[in-house]
Amino acid sequence: MKQKTALITGITGQDGSYLADFLLEQGYRVIGMVRRSSTVNFDRIAHLQEVEALEIVQGDLLDQMSLIDILREYNPDEVYNLAAQSFVPTSWRQPVLTGEFTALGVTRMLDAIRIVNPNIRFYQASSSEMFGKVRETPQNENTPFYPRSPYGVAKVYGHWITINYRESYNLFAYSGILFNHESPRRGLEFVTHKVTYGVARIKLGLADELRLGNLEARRDWGYAGDYVRAMWLMLQQDKPDDYVIATGETHSVRRLCEVAFNCVGLNYEDYVVSDPKFYRPAEVDLLVGDATKAGEKLGWEPTINFAALIQMMVEADMVTLREEGH
Ligand code: NAP
Ligand code: GDD
Repeated sequence: MKQKTALITGITGQDGSYLADFLLEQGYRVIGMVRRSSTVNFDRIAHLQEVEALEIVQGDLLDQMSLIDILREYNPDEVYNLAAQSFVPTSWRQPVLTGEFTALGVTRMLDAIRIVNPNIRFYQASSSEMFGKVRETPQNENTPFYPRSPYGVAKVYGHWITINYRESYNLFAYSGILFNHESPRRGLEFVTHKVTYGVARIKLGLADELRLGNLEARRDWGYAGDYVRAMWLMLQQDKPDDYVIATGETHSVRRLCEVAFNCVGLNYEDYVVSDPKFYRPAEVDLLVGDATKAGEKLGWEPTINFAALIQMMVEADMVTLREEGH
């Protein structure tokens, strides 16, 4: 069988790095698109440096021609559009830039596909943040959206333009509505990693408190490694569609703290401070997904539960800090 080629935008991010691992294991040739910067930022894919089947190319979701050129040069079978401004608080500080990357960037890639090769299969990284002020619980593919941040609004646009290009031009355009997913490779500003890294620092005597925002917000947290497998499974279906990917369990940030501090034998109440500085202008109070459709149609199920995920992250942070000599 001919070796398949996949293009990943956002390969330097958490999901991009796990997806590259996964696709390389499946025998794919992987093209990773990165934007130009004055210093390289390849920590999450450093372990793939010597892998011949992985090639890094420069391109930017802000630059239409760069996308068209990459598609023409590499002619991928599958495109995974993971690049985005993905941190919700930044979307209030840079709402226009967030719209350019996270919303219009999707149209730029879809148009590039339409022009170069409409047979390319396209995955859009949609988000449970689109459900925002939730209209029903749990949330599924038919739950109406009510985004609560410029990021969420931009993702709603990305989701609908994906469906629109599917319906207007018969593109193989798939949208994965993924609930929060985490790992030791998660950015340090997201709450799970902020907490597990904070726990490790406190345990090793490097800090004596952890300042967070709203402790009552609830999320459906899964493991990123499981979620990139779902992305690939979607694109193996001949009929393009939308899928919710979630664990079906929800926990508060407070419970996350309790579990993470327990991993090292500490009580979170002795260290966690709720600081209004980290509160958001509008909050998403509760997310919990119903992934029944993904289970039935893709045969997808999560393999790592909340407690195991948090333990994995705390242990990885302890190892990192010890390797740094602490
Ligand atoms: P992430 O770690 O923040 O990675 C984002 C990636 O996008 C980085 O590689 C970044 O490159 C790249 N990027 C940003 N702007 C770009 C541009 N203009 N052109 C090219 N690349 C650009 O995000 P993630 O957690 O892996 O999430 C992947 C995708 O899934 C995102 O679209 C996110 O919104 C979405 N999503 C994530 C979750 C989750 O829980 N993780 C849930 C639902 C949806 P640099 O390294 O250069 O910054
Ligand atoms: N980041 C952060 N830092 N969040 C905090 C803090 C804090 O100090 N304290 C409380 N929280 C609360 C936030 O208010 C939010 O309700 C919740 O923790 C989760 O925040 P994040 O981890 O930043 O993730 P998110 O849910 O806003 O967004 C992530 O998940 C989305 C999917 O639902 C991102 O990965 C998005 O890109 C993704 O689409």
